[in-house]
Amino acid sequence: MKESLDKHQQNPMDNVDDWEDNLLERYPDPTEDKKEKEAFRNYVDSERLDTVKEFYRINHLYQTYDFVCEKEADFLKFDRKEMSIWEAVDFLNTLVDDSDPDIDLDQLQHLLQTSEAIRADGHPDWFVLTGFIHDLGKVLCLFGEPQWAVVGDTFPVGCAYSDTIVYSEFFKENPDYTNARFNTKYGIYEPNCGLDQVKMSWGHDEYLYQIMKDYLPEPALYMIRYHSFYAQHRENDYRHLMNDKDVEMFKWVQAFNPYDLYSKAPVAPNVEELLPYYKGLVAKYLPEKLKF
Ligand SMILES: [Fe+2]
Ligand SMILES: [Fe+2]
Repeated sequence: MKESLDKHQQNPMDNVDDWEDNLLERYPDPTEDKKEKEAFRNYVDSERLDTVKEFYRINHLYQTYDFVCEKEADFLKFDRKEMSIWEAVDFLNTLVDDSDPDIDLDQLQHLLQTSEAIRADGHPDWFVLTGFIHDLGKVLCLFGEPQWAVVGDTFPVGCAYSDTIVYSEFFKENPDYTNARFNTKYGIYEPNCGLDQVKMSWGHDEYLYQIMKDYLPEPALYMIRYHSFYAQHRENDYRHLMNDKDVEMFKWVQAFNPYDLYSKAPVAPNVEELLPYYKGLVAKYLPEKLKF
């Protein structure tokens, strides 16, 4: 059943962040004026959108319940690399855009734009820190993982795939789609069992959550773990698996989302000027070294 794809086919997008163009199409910034938007985003050509669609096709084909179990068993041993946050940021910054390294800001700049927008709104420091680190799980790409197992919308596996998930028609090719154990509304789960009981499709969100879970306040952990779970935080289509605590905590996930999606400005932040503040913030909450 599995197609065998070569390295290039496994990674159809030139840049691991190209899927975010599709997010902005689906969830445009309500505060942005149209002209400004076009000026900033006129590079989103149809060829790029095709590669995003192909990315989602293989994501939806391969993200099965068993696949998630395999990836958890492997990556949650955390035996790849020991790094400080700063080493992880440098490592992540080695990810470059295959098509045009000049077009996009690097990963550190995206992280700083997110966290600086949070800081400017006067949120608590752990919220700022969350913005700064939320995408560090993308180092998975550098451990040889294909794009479809690192980024993209996340969704529960082990139960029916919601129609509100982007390109949900592609789930028809996923073996779990016809597996009676998994293809009902609740699948293997109990009503309102709580998201902690629910396996999510594998990617940078879950991975970083597992690395950070002992160090940050609970709202921060929810923001990291579920920031790509659009079928819930935007579409509210998995309420039947959530408990009361999840509902409370998703207010934070929703508060975080606009900073992730809408803080990308063409102007690069002044990294040197900002670093001392972030060094202090990282040292306040996180140990010197983390296991990836
Ligand atoms: Fe992300
Ligand atoms: Fe992000």
